[in-house]
Amino acid sequence: MTAPVLCARDLRYEYPDGTVGLAGVDLTVEAGERVAITGPNGSGKSTLLSVLGGLVDPADGRVEYFGETENAEAVRERLGVLLQDPDDYLFNTTVRADIEYGPAQLGVPREEADRRVHALADALDLDGLLDKPPHRLSGGEKKRAALASVLSFEPSVLLLDEPTSAVDAPRTADVLALLDRRHRAGATLVTVTPDVELIPRVADRVVVVGPSGNLVADGPVAEVLTDPETLTTAGLQPPAVVRLFDRLGWDDPPVDVDDAVERLETTGLPRR
Ligand SMILES: Nc1ncnc2c1ncn2[C@@H]1O[C@H](COP(=O)(O)OP(=O)(O)OP(=O)(O)O)[C@@H](O)[C@H]1O
Ligand SMILES: [Mg+2]
Repeated sequence: MTAPVLCARDLRYEYPDGTVGLAGVDLTVEAGERVAITGPNGSGKSTLLSVLGGLVDPADGRVEYFGETENAEAVRERLGVLLQDPDDYLFNTTVRADIEYGPAQLGVPREEADRRVHALADALDLDGLLDKPPHRLSGGEKKRAALASVLSFEPSVLLLDEPTSAVDAPRTADVLALLDRRHRAGATLVTVTPDVELIPRVADRVVVVGPSGNLVADGPVAEVLTDPETLTTAGLQPPAVVRLFDRLGWDDPPVDVDDAVERLETTGLPRR
């Protein structure tokens, strides 16, 4: 059996001012999984992603990658970490240079790097922005450029903190389609989001971080998102479709619009 992509045990983290970031988190992610990490603002999602991505050392506990069969350098080349703030990724004079940076560091040949830049620009609607200085971009543009700069070195494990926050709906669909293609090509996807509506679109499994930096749920999306008690205790609320079907008295509510349409069609409700 393939070793898990990452296995975190009893992670604890406290910021210097005493704020608890993580309080005893266990999390295993298998190769090829699509996992969402959700929770309210300030619960510790970004802290957890930084620790899982190896950017911050936990005060206690540890993270093993690929069953520890690989050295740290090889692990780094396989992990693509997108932190919440896109400015962390945009430090060159042009957007193109930022996207080329990862492949250049890994010695990817020029022609292949160019191919990747063009494919990502096309997929993320960055064509008109490639020669712009990154600090001139809008918030949603920066987010897409930062994501491109992580995807350009083609990591097999993607740890993404709010990859679509500030991105408009049509371009969110573009981002999700691209992530879906990477997943179908074998990538493992871990996405942090406080937006419960996004979860069914990026994940099959969801982990909920509670207000005190501990995990309060970990299970299939359809189970966790239809459990109002767990979500409410964690400081979240179920997706709108779940609340709608719940208020209409339906058991086992659907979690997104596609699911809801399928359910309504099979019950034979009157149609226009
Ligand atoms: N450098 C820091 N020093 C002190 N406290 C911090 C620091 N960075 C984060 N925190 C605190 O740690 C807690 C967890 O922060 P984190 O950024 O992980 O939350 P989050 O779940 O990602 O929130 P959001 O949904 O707003 O992105 C918060 O209470 C935050 O205020
Ligand atoms: Mg965050």
